Amino acid sequence: MTTARTPVAVVTGAGSGIGAATARQLAAAGFHVVLTARRKDRIEAVAAEITAAGHQSTAHPLDVTDRPAVDSFAASLDRCDVLVNNAGGALGADPVATGDPADWRRMYEVNVIGTLNLTQALLPALTASGDGTVVVLSSTAGLATYEGGGGYVAAKHGAHVLAETLRLEIVGTPVRVIEIAPGMVRTEEFATTRFRGDTEKAAKVYAGVAEPLSADDVADTITWAVTRPSHVNIDLLVVRPRAQASNSKVHREL
Ligand SMILES: NC(=O)c1ccc[n+]([C@@H]2O[C@H](COP(=O)([O-])OP(=O)(O)OC[C@H]3O[C@@H](n4cnc5c(N)ncnc54)[C@H](OP(=O)(O)O)[C@@H]3O)[C@@H](O)[C@H]2O)c1
Repeated sequence: MTTARTPVAVVTGAGSGIGAATARQLAAAGFHVVLTARRKDRIEAVAAEITAAGHQSTAHPLDVTDRPAVDSFAASLDRCDVLVNNAGGALGADPVATGDPADWRRMYEVNVIGTLNLTQALLPALTASGDGTVVVLSSTAGLATYEGGGGYVAAKHGAHVLAETLRLEIVGTPVRVIEIAPGMVRTEEFATTRFRGDTEKAAKVYAGVAEPLSADDVADTITWAVTRPSHVNIDLLVVRPRAQASNSKVHREL
């Protein structure tokens, strides 16, 4: 259970990668973190770690594309101060000419509609908090394209537009909208999910790159942006590893 006095941060996709790192860092920053994702065992393990470190957390299994489940999750919270829309990801790296429309649809569903579902469901509580924050984890794929990016680039552009539009529409209310757009981040599952379990293909994404960003690097930028004074709105923060100058210009030592 959350306790009414502690600020609550909901993090989606919190059982792995950037979401898990963000949950740990926001808990250490004083939030009661509510971890959500589809895999119950993963979020429970991260929540147990957070609790063992002396911080507050709750795990709540949730598929962000399931609107009735999202609505009943929102109704179960007694407050919400921060929402981190992190659940998402890529499927495939096919050219537009041969990409599978089912992959495109799925990526739009998770990265855009999932973010829309949580944002709509929690906006009343975020507004009622008097100092709410919505974070949208887009990507540099939401700002520029690359070959083979196709459906993921289209979906992350959708997430970017959602953040930009929402900021315009709710100005004057006590809720800020922060977009974090990371470049190359080496997480355990992102590339493996993209290549459907093909670990060799996944490893090639990071081949020869001295230091891709880590999940903690991105969680650090999210936590920094969220903990600025409430009148400060970090509209858009682009963060890449030094070895990456653009989506397709990466320095590799091979
Ligand atoms: N890694 C990168 O290079 C990179 C760069 C820029 C942006 N990003 C973005 O950062 C976010 C986190 O990525 P990551 O690298 O940390 O990869 P990740 O470990 O694969 O994280 C994705 C998370 O989303 C959850 N998820 C997927 N579908 C979901 C659904 N329908 N409902 C609820 N949760 C769902 C997954 O958990 P379950 O499977 O348990 O549901 C998983 O915890 C994503 O939005 C990704 O697009 C990543």
